[in-house]
Amino acid sequence: MSALFTPFTLKDVTLKNRIAVPPMCQYSATDGVPNDWHQVHYSTLARGGASLVIVEATAVSPEGRITPGCLGIWNDEQAAELAKIAKSIKAAGAVPGIQIGHAGRKASANLPWEGDDHIAEGDPRGWATIAPSAVAFGKHLPKVPKEMTKADIQRVMADFVAAAKRARDAGFEWLELHFAHGYLAQSFFSVHSNTRTDEYGGDFAGRSRFLIETFDAVNAVWPKNLPITARFGVIEYDGRDEETLAESIKLTRILREKGLDMLNVSVGFSTWEAQIPWGAGFLAPVSRRVRAEAGLPVASSWGVASAQIAERCISEEDMDLVMIGRAMLANPHYPYALAKELGEDNPSWVLPAPYAHWLERYS
Ligand code: FNR
Repeated sequence: MSALFTPFTLKDVTLKNRIAVPPMCQYSATDGVPNDWHQVHYSTLARGGASLVIVEATAVSPEGRITPGCLGIWNDEQAAELAKIAKSIKAAGAVPGIQIGHAGRKASANLPWEGDDHIAEGDPRGWATIAPSAVAFGKHLPKVPKEMTKADIQRVMADFVAAAKRARDAGFEWLELHFAHGYLAQSFFSVHSNTRTDEYGGDFAGRSRFLIETFDAVNAVWPKNLPITARFGVIEYDGRDEETLAESIKLTRILREKGLDMLNVSVGFSTWEAQIPWGAGFLAPVSRRVRAEAGLPVASSWGVASAQIAERCISEEDMDLVMIGRAMLANPHYPYALAKELGEDNPSWVLPAPYAHWLERYS
């Protein structure tokens, strides 16, 4: 049996293999409410054989959406539709997960296929953004956010807690806090975006405070028997990588001691000037280091989809789960292709019986 198709247990949740679908925004919602697109999209992915399907970045408040098309989980209507998605993912044999987050200074953007830039000032579709400091991301995201007051910080943390409770009650069994990709939490941690002089900025402790307090608040309401994880950009590729990585590992250790079950290792995306070494599996060595030095299970993505790379990432313990995104968009039954390529016994049974039986019989 390949390493990729071995089970993995975290708390009371056992994943049937090491293939997870990472959160991928669909930018297709209205007022944050999931619709038919999302229902079909997620159940299709879950039927494809991945063990865990994490619903896209779902905003904890209206201003926390990246675009007007992003999902939200700040009201009961959204939660009721999300509950249907959780149920269909589970019915298809995968574990239902959800990523909750706040986009911070990168919020109020046009859909990716309509420019991916900030919605123009004065356009009624846009909204005021907030961030640790009044510093714009720049380039295609030039909007200057409002510096958050302490009251804003408390409110956003309360929004994260309310979102986690709704996710729990909607039937999600795996929570991922979006602390990555230059969005609000990452921007508290990053020196590129946090110039605060109070206790939420400055040194490592100050820049970590928002993430630690948000984690603690959410952890207090998330069921103790279910995994609570975070996605975090541990490296920026901005020329100060050793320093950032060391601080990121230090923060991960603190979060682990407080109850974090797994880190989804990613890139910070806090500055457009980063020189990211895109390439198949480029984050695997970074993920391996975080796993070893922070001492907790890790997942990672970015070009780990090929059978050889995915298998190697698991067998050589670079990561505990491979997160496969775009290859699943291209072919939602991609785990079946991986099972065949890796020589699994009865590969069609990666898929549900109504497909597997016929593929086995006539292959
Ligand atoms: C993403 N990604 C992403 N990441 C995240 O943390 N939350 C999100 O909601 C999204 N949204 C999103 C949408 C789409 C359409 C894509 C393609 C990507 C990043 C994603 O989770 C993953 O890390 C990347 O796609 C890299 O993995 P692959 O595609 O190389 O397997």
